[in-house]
Amino acid sequence: MSTAIDRMTGLRPVVLTGDRPTGGLHLGHLAGSLAERVRLQETCDQFVLVADLQAMTDNAGNPAKVAEAVPEVVADYIAAGLDPTKSTMFLQSGIPELSELTMLYLNLVTVSRLERNPTVRDEIRQRGFERDIPAGFLCYPISQSADITAFRATKVPVGDDQLPMIELAQEIAIRVNRLGGSEILPRPEAVLSAVTRLPGIDGLGKASKSLGNAIQIGDPADVVREKVRMMFTDPNHLRVSDPGRVEGNVVFSYLDAFDGDVAAVADLKDRYRAGGLGDSVLKRRLADVLEALLSPMRERRRAIGRDEAMAILAAGTLRARAVAAQTLVSVRSALGMPVLV
Ligand code: TRP
Repeated sequence: MSTAIDRMTGLRPVVLTGDRPTGGLHLGHLAGSLAERVRLQETCDQFVLVADLQAMTDNAGNPAKVAEAVPEVVADYIAAGLDPTKSTMFLQSGIPELSELTMLYLNLVTVSRLERNPTVRDEIRQRGFERDIPAGFLCYPISQSADITAFRATKVPVGDDQLPMIELAQEIAIRVNRLGGSEILPRPEAVLSAVTRLPGIDGLGKASKSLGNAIQIGDPADVVREKVRMMFTDPNHLRVSDPGRVEGNVVFSYLDAFDGDVAAVADLKDRYRAGGLGDSVLKRRLADVLEALLSPMRERRRAIGRDEAMAILAAGTLRARAVAAQTLVSVRSALGMPVLV
């Protein structure tokens, strides 16, 4: 079997990306990062990490949630089309070298630099940590820099909220290279996905598992239909004959993201704006589109159980670890760490 590592020539760009395992993945992930990764695996050496250590930085009181989500996330990756022979999927905590790199990088970053990270600041506010910020949480961007640099990744596909993390990884790479006196770590660049954020079915914000307003990749067909039935449309579109609003209408956002027939959707928008088109017609179309998308994914998801998902992760972790271990040797040497003989 040809694996991602076998095909590594050093010529293909290295991609590193990943997710915190706090629940299964949803259509927002699919429209944004997952579809992009399925494309990138054809042309790049792609590493996809399940960031369980990062998830623990704000879930230390609920480790079962993280542990249970790990095989879920892997099953969703496979369902969405990630191929273990093309993408190396691995578990962050299965690579102790990442933790050692983090330990070394901690000395290259100041506390005030960490406190300035706008994404971390938002998260601290959302979680109500106030003065009781877990040290691991404040430092997770350093651990994320270890994830990125360990694989010498140059492309990091992420949402714009992750830009401060990439910036920090760039700074750390520069510091390591300067200290080591050579180009040990390449400069990682963010690759922003073009898709705008998918709204939740309630239209109140972005789709999120924890808010319960997302359609999960693993949702059964009847649950998907029910979620589509409950979707927020236009509260002033009371009678079928009334003109309806397309902007802010969640059904149209999803049709834009997932219905391949752009001309038909444009026509539906015209008819909806003019009046005379009922929500139920739109919702039936969306339910059919989503069913066509999700049913093969559901099959693939069913075909791999928890054990197989964990076995895929274990094999990927073994391959990824060998790469991270090499980088660690170079970084230790660049930073002047003693060598045991
Ligand atoms: N911070 C990312 C998230 O919240 C997950 C993540 C961890 C990640 N390590 C990474 C993403 C490295 C890109 C690269 O989803």
